[in-house]
Amino acid sequence: MKTIGAKRWTLALLALFLGTAALYSCQAGGPSAGMGDAASAVYVAPGEYDEFYAFMSGGFSGNVTVYGLPSGRLLRTVPVFSQFPENGWGYSEETKGMLETSWGFIPWDDAHHPQLSQTEGVTDGRWLFINANNTPRVARIDLTTFETDEILEVPNSAGNHASPFITENTEYVVASTRFSVPIPQRDMPISEYKGNFQGTISFIRGDDPGNMDVAFQIVVPGYNYDLSNAGRKASAGWAFLTTYNTEEAHTLLEVNASRHDKDFIAAVHWKRAETCVAEGAGRDMPAEYIHNHMGPGRLTRSETKRSVKVLEPSDCPDMVFFLPTPKSPHGVDVDPSGEYIAAGGKLAAVIPVHSFTKMLQAIEARDYETVVDGIPVLRYEAVLAGEVKEPGLGPLHTEFDDQGFGYTSMFISSEIVKWKLGTWEVVDRAPAYYSIGHLMIPGGDSGQPWGKYAVALNKITKDRYLPTGPELAHAAQLYDITGDRLRLLLDFPTQGEPHYAQALPAHILMDRQARIFPLEENAHPHATPGEGAARVERSGNVVRVYMTTIRTHFSPDNIEGIRLGDTVYFHVTNLEQDWDVPHGFAMMGARNAELLVMPGETRTLKWVPTRVGVYPFYCTDFCSALHQEMQGYVRVSPAGSDVALSYSTGATD
Ligand code: CUA
Repeated sequence: MKTIGAKRWTLALLALFLGTAALYSCQAGGPSAGMGDAASAVYVAPGEYDEFYAFMSGGFSGNVTVYGLPSGRLLRTVPVFSQFPENGWGYSEETKGMLETSWGFIPWDDAHHPQLSQTEGVTDGRWLFINANNTPRVARIDLTTFETDEILEVPNSAGNHASPFITENTEYVVASTRFSVPIPQRDMPISEYKGNFQGTISFIRGDDPGNMDVAFQIVVPGYNYDLSNAGRKASAGWAFLTTYNTEEAHTLLEVNASRHDKDFIAAVHWKRAETCVAEGAGRDMPAEYIHNHMGPGRLTRSETKRSVKVLEPSDCPDMVFFLPTPKSPHGVDVDPSGEYIAAGGKLAAVIPVHSFTKMLQAIEARDYETVVDGIPVLRYEAVLAGEVKEPGLGPLHTEFDDQGFGYTSMFISSEIVKWKLGTWEVVDRAPAYYSIGHLMIPGGDSGQPWGKYAVALNKITKDRYLPTGPELAHAAQLYDITGDRLRLLLDFPTQGEPHYAQALPAHILMDRQARIFPLEENAHPHATPGEGAARVERSGNVVRVYMTTIRTHFSPDNIEGIRLGDTVYFHVTNLEQDWDVPHGFAMMGARNAELLVMPGETRTLKWVPTRVGVYPFYCTDFCSALHQEMQGYVRVSPAGSDVALSYSTGATD
């Protein structure tokens, strides 16, 4: 009976969603009448800069894209978890190691939640973190180079979705598992899920570049952990995570994980956990996971870790509490003051907002509804600050402005709903085209929102762009939130799935950009410091080409004496010391990508010749008027040939 009811309800929701989408579809037809001065609000004149940098996750592209706001102009793709042939990320010998995991080399992942580093709850522009969902990892991007600098695998996790959410001084990156699994992994029947599968919440040290590591993991019941947000100001020292599937179902979750009226927000007192760990609580559990860091010489250093500190709730009383929250909550978002904790119960009829103060009082009074696996469950009424009534359908995520308003994305009714903190009244709503997932306000999940704009990150595009075959452009929409009413200004397409985004004022980043890598600091073991040192060396079947680039030639540019059976490494050092002068390197027939070598940097292309003949290489980056002259040849002779190794360099011509 229950099953049929739940199924019917799901179908009803689906029908409602399709109906709503169709309705918006009709409304959206035709040119945007009444948009008026929206065009001038997003117009950034030629030569002018945007006001904000926005960092968009690429979702299933595995990478991050950087946009300017309000123009919606794409500025850069930052490869993270996916190979990127455009610049050789994950192909060059220096960067391949960044994609190493305990499973071996993985060329792809699903990147969901960009998170900018913070100091005292304020976005500081040092780093951007992002999660790999599929093979659990967390990456740190250095925002002086816009380059992925560090990737840490997360052990005892599966579907690293509630990740990477940082604490207010970037002490920790909080990363939790979406899928509960056997911990440690073992061969067991899936039907024995309930009570045997478990989740973990990992606290990864985030403020020590080059040394990201799991400080400790908390083992939690076998639910799905969906999203997270750290406390700030009043609630600093705490982190909040949503759960669904408190039913502990393992099949047909759309029905079986939608039975309970309420699931939980897990409130984790990480300051308390720190103390427990310092006092010797928990145990060291064998675990194999890999840490990759772009170290000296801009070469990946990979280290395999063998152990992780694991805490059970019973090891550290008063560390984890459950706040009942309707219903299958998705997002959890803490307001700028740190007092209010808003949940997006995707099947809930209200937006429940918990009070941190009331939560502490309930804990103090031991006002528990029950205890689950050693974790006290507080009473809903005891912790609730208020409910936003009749907000729409399918609340997912909330961000905040600097005026005391929350903005919640409503997936099913496809809109942004604006409501007032404290009175919980809905004050405005604006349609999103279509099916908004996350939304983003610059600084809107921090202690200092910059406000001004909201960006809707939409799941479905339908009729918003010129059609492009079966797959349509994914899209973001920009709203002006400075007035009483939200005002839609701009649609702009995105790369991959624009899952979540973060933004910060441009002035924080633009003056601290690296322009070159100083040649005298190049610590690469195969760097060539000047043309005079360009050379080719053979050691058995390995040939190393110590090559330089400068406008507009390679040294060496003619190479003979390579034989079938050789493995050739082109170590290309770009001698340029001017901003914006990379050179490219591509070798005909190489089963590899190109290299794009930044000024002062060394990058290496591995090439195993497969055919006898004479083959060209050339510069792929249009570097100067004589770019097209920037080329060379390699002669490949049969195995065992007695053609001597020789080369010509620019220095000797
Ligand atoms: Cu160097 Cu084109």
